[in-house]
Amino acid sequence: MNLLDRPRRLRATPVLREMMAETNVSARHLITPHFVVEGKGIKEEIGSMPGVFHVSTDELIKEVEADLELGLKSHLLFGIPNDKSPHGDSALDDNGVVQQSLRALKGQFGTDIISITDVCLCAYTSHGHCGFLEDGKVVNDPSVEQLARMALSHAQAGCDIVSPSDMMDGRVGGIRELLDENGFTDTVILAYSAKYASAYYGPFRDACDSAPQGDRKTYQMDPRNGREAVLETFLDLQEGADMVMVKPALAYLDIIRRVREEVLSPVVCYNVSGEYSLVKNAAKAGLVDEAAIVRENLLAFRRAGSDLIITYHGRDALKEGWI
Ligand code: PBG
Ligand code: ZN
Repeated sequence: MNLLDRPRRLRATPVLREMMAETNVSARHLITPHFVVEGKGIKEEIGSMPGVFHVSTDELIKEVEADLELGLKSHLLFGIPNDKSPHGDSALDDNGVVQQSLRALKGQFGTDIISITDVCLCAYTSHGHCGFLEDGKVVNDPSVEQLARMALSHAQAGCDIVSPSDMMDGRVGGIRELLDENGFTDTVILAYSAKYASAYYGPFRDACDSAPQGDRKTYQMDPRNGREAVLETFLDLQEGADMVMVKPALAYLDIIRRVREEVLSPVVCYNVSGEYSLVKNAAKAGLVDEAAIVRENLLAFRRAGSDLIITYHGRDALKEGWI
C-alpha cells in the first residue's frame, strides 16, 4: 500500500510509546480520602469499600505516614462523629474528630503534607441531609451559615484546603467571607462545583452512615444536565473558589472535559466510592485485571482534563506499581 500516514510508526516499541505519551498520572496528581472516627486504636475495614478503613486519629497518622512513603502527600478527611443532631452542631466542635485529626497531622507532618477537609453536614445531621431540614425541605441560607462556621473551625485547626461538598447556593462565597474576616485569607477553597445526584455514592453513605431521608435531588445536580455544570463552576469561581471539582468522575468524563475547556483554574475530579467498589469487586471476582483497569481509569481522568484526582485506588496503584 502506498500510505503516507502510518500512525503505527509511533507505537512500535515501549520506549517509543513512552516518548509519545500525551498524558501521565503519578503520585502528585492523587488525593487520598480518609474516614476518621472517634476513639483510639481503631482500624476497621469498611464493608462496602474493600481496602478502605475507618480509622481513629492515631491510626490516621500511621496511614498517612505509610502513604507519604508512597509519595501521597494530599489527604482528604471525612469525619464520622458519634453525635448527630438536626443542625449537625458537632461539626463545629473544636475537639471534633476532624479538628483533632488536623492538629495531629500538623504536629506530626507540618508542611510535608496537604490537609483537605470535606465541608458538609450530612455525616453530622440526624436526618442525613447536607443542610438544615425545615418542614421537609433543605433550606439554603441558614445551611450556608453553618457550613461557613464548619469551614472556619477546620481552618482554625490548621486545615490547608476546605472543600464544601454540600451544593447549597452561595456557600463558597459565605465560606470565603467568614474565613477572610477571621484572618484565614490563605486557606484554599476547593469547591465541589459540579456534583451530581449520583447512585455511585452508595458505598460512601454506608461508610459515613450518611444516607439521607429521601434524596439529595433538590441540591445535587441532575445527571441529565451538562451546561448546568459550567454554570455551577462559574458561580463557585466568582464566589472565590480556588479550584473546582467534577463528581463523580468515570460517568462524567464529558463534564470534566467541558469544565476544563471553560475555566483557567485547576480542575479536580472525584473517582467516587461506587466507581471504586465496582472495580474492586470485579477484580476480586476475576473479571478484570485490576492493575490495567485502575491505570486506564486514572489516565482517562487526566486525559479528560483533570489536574488532580481524588481516588481510593492511589495506595494500591503506587504500592503495586500500576502507575
Ligand atoms: C458528602 C459527600 C459525599 C461524597 C463526598 N462528600 C456523599 C454524598 O453527597 O452523598 C461521596 C464520595 C464517594 O462516594 O466516594 N456530601
Ligand atoms: Zn453532604
